[in-house]
Amino acid sequence: VSISIRPLSPDDKARWQVLWHGYLTFYEHPINDALTENLWGRLMTEDHDPYCLVACDGKGTVIGIVQYLFHATTWTGRDKCYLQDLFVDPKARIGGAGRALIEAVYEKAAAADASEVYWMTQHFNIVARVLYDRVGELTPFIKYRKLM
Ligand SMILES: CC(C)(COP(=O)(O)OP(=O)(O)OC[C@H]1O[C@@H](n2cnc3c(N)ncnc32)[C@H](O)[C@@H]1OP(=O)(O)O)[C@@H](O)C(=O)NCCC(=O)NCCS
Repeated sequence: VSISIRPLSPDDKARWQVLWHGYLTFYEHPINDALTENLWGRLMTEDHDPYCLVACDGKGTVIGIVQYLFHATTWTGRDKCYLQDLFVDPKARIGGAGRALIEAVYEKAAAADASEVYWMTQHFNIVARVLYDRVGELTPFIKYRKLM
């Protein structure tokens, strides 16, 4: 299968929404149409966080999305790139789209002179971790939070 990666475009709205809602459902997160619309608007704003790249199959159908953003750090003068969301259509998995999307973010981060790309996942997400162990490095950090 030939996978191609490109930036999200205005024509992608219907497919993007299916995949975004699939991702939220994967995380058992409620779907909120106003928030979806707001995110779409932000993704459509050029040269501004957050960004979205899409993976297309040989027919041009959008089969995966990755969303990422940049932020400053105290440790270097260079930004870090946070890869926040990654989702591939269940029907199109294990076809290389997930890897291609991550590697496309690596290219964007390199072009922006970011010092690293990083992401989080649930420790029991074995399917995703098969891929992550191949394309990245497991760090010893764990996440704490305080909800506001
Ligand atoms: C995680 C996810 C994005 C991976 O997408 P994908 O398109 O299936 O990934 P790829 O096809 O690029 O697979 C990547 C690698 O893992 C391997 N792999 C994936 N699933 C595998 C499995 N079940 N058994 C064995 N190998 C597997 C592939 O062989 C491939 O290795 P290679 O690139 O070295 O050949 C996808 O499963 C998904 O959307 N999951 C639900 C949402 C999710 O978990 N998102 C990430 C949350 S942080």
